[in-house]
Amino acid sequence: MTKTEKKPGIVTRNLNVTFNGVPAIENIDLELHRNTVTAVIGPSGCGKSTFLRALNLMHDMTPKCKVTGQITILDKEITEYTGVELRKRVGMIFQKPNPFPDMSIFDNVISGWKLSGMHNKKFYNEIAEKALRNSDLWDEVKDRLKEPAISLSGGQQQRLCIARTLAVEPYIILMDEPTSALDPISTQNVENTIYRLKSEYTFIIVTHNMQQAARISDVTAFFYLGKLVEVGSTRKIFTNPDEKLTEDYVSGKFG
Ligand SMILES: Nc1ncnc2c1ncn2[C@@H]1O[C@H](COP(=O)(O)OP(=O)(O)OP(=O)(O)O)[C@@H](O)[C@H]1O
Ligand SMILES: [Mg+2]
Repeated sequence: MTKTEKKPGIVTRNLNVTFNGVPAIENIDLELHRNTVTAVIGPSGCGKSTFLRALNLMHDMTPKCKVTGQITILDKEITEYTGVELRKRVGMIFQKPNPFPDMSIFDNVISGWKLSGMHNKKFYNEIAEKALRNSDLWDEVKDRLKEPAISLSGGQQQRLCIARTLAVEPYIILMDEPTSALDPISTQNVENTIYRLKSEYTFIIVTHNMQQAARISDVTAFFYLGKLVEVGSTRKIFTNPDEKLTEDYVSGKFG
């Protein structure tokens, strides 16, 4: 299986997540193809993060959370992966940058490989430079790689987290409002990174920024009150959606 095969990256069938018995997302059927960028949009509390977290088995750690239905990641049922295997294939970027605070910039980037027990300095150097170049951070940090990650600005820390994810070369990258805390330049850097890398990765990005969704995504999925209202090409969703609810949301009539 190569990274560019035109096959579904993620398929969900009748996916439900409840917290304390209360549904957060219901009956989500989605098929997301590889090497595309999908934007997940919808008002606060509609289940966007819940959906994303299900794709990385992150609810397993949440008490009183129940996930039912089927998730296929790259032709394999999600439950057939070990945690380590899954994380090699599916990376996640959060709204708030979360670099390892006790580690240097360099060690953050290669941390995924270190954990896997791989020890080779030349390999680490190559991997780190490639990932930092791809996340658009290399020029800003190449002379300070040994400094603590937390000495970076927020926008730089977010790009460091992207580099850390890219370094393990996953297939799928989930991003939950990755630019909501960033300035316009850092936001643009992150968007450029996504745009440049989409031939190699499958991105799913949650955003409240309609312009961002329109700029960077190929496909848009609109969630409302835990349901998937509509999914389609971003152009269609933003110009000629099937559902009135979608039209009202993307045109800013409610939010
Ligand atoms: N750990 C949890 N425990 C209990 N309820 C939760 C938990 N996580 C999410 N929920 C509930 O699930 C629903 C969906 O939340 P979710 O965080 O997925 O929304 P969202 O669309 O990402 O919203 P936002 O745009 O504000 O980030 C909400 O009603 C929320 O209260
Ligand atoms: Mg959220």
